[in-house]
Amino acid sequence: MATQHLIHLLNTDERYPCAEHQNVLRAMESLGRQGIPVGCRSGGCGICKVRIHAGTYMGRKMSRAFVSAAEEACGVVLACRIQPQSEMRLEAIDKLAHCVERTTIRNPSAGHTAQTHTRPITTSTECVS
Ligand code: FES
Repeated sequence: MATQHLIHLLNTDERYPCAEHQNVLRAMESLGRQGIPVGCRSGGCGICKVRIHAGTYMGRKMSRAFVSAAEEACGVVLACRIQPQSEMRLEAIDKLAHCVERTTIRNPSAGHTAQTHTRPITTSTECVS
């Protein structure tokens, strides 16, 4: 069985498993919820930008048209181009943040309803330490 790591999506406080050989976006899609945009899944559209807050990953080459060297130095990457090597904490930013944060999640069996998040979205040009 492939090694799996837990991914914590800070925008919605969701956690999901991701195998080491799987990219983080594909695993995010397996949550089966609305709001995850369907992009190119290969680093060509830039819709899946995330900021890594903690954890290690194996990254594949990313187009500088979507992630500048300065952004990458601040932990900004394309979720479709990284594979986790440890548990990770990440934040969807830019278009992906708009998509995941606008969705209301209802889970009556768990006895709660998560509302749309309203906190400000960090821009991709800021470097948050
Ligand atoms: S889905 Fe297009 S760059 Fe990731």
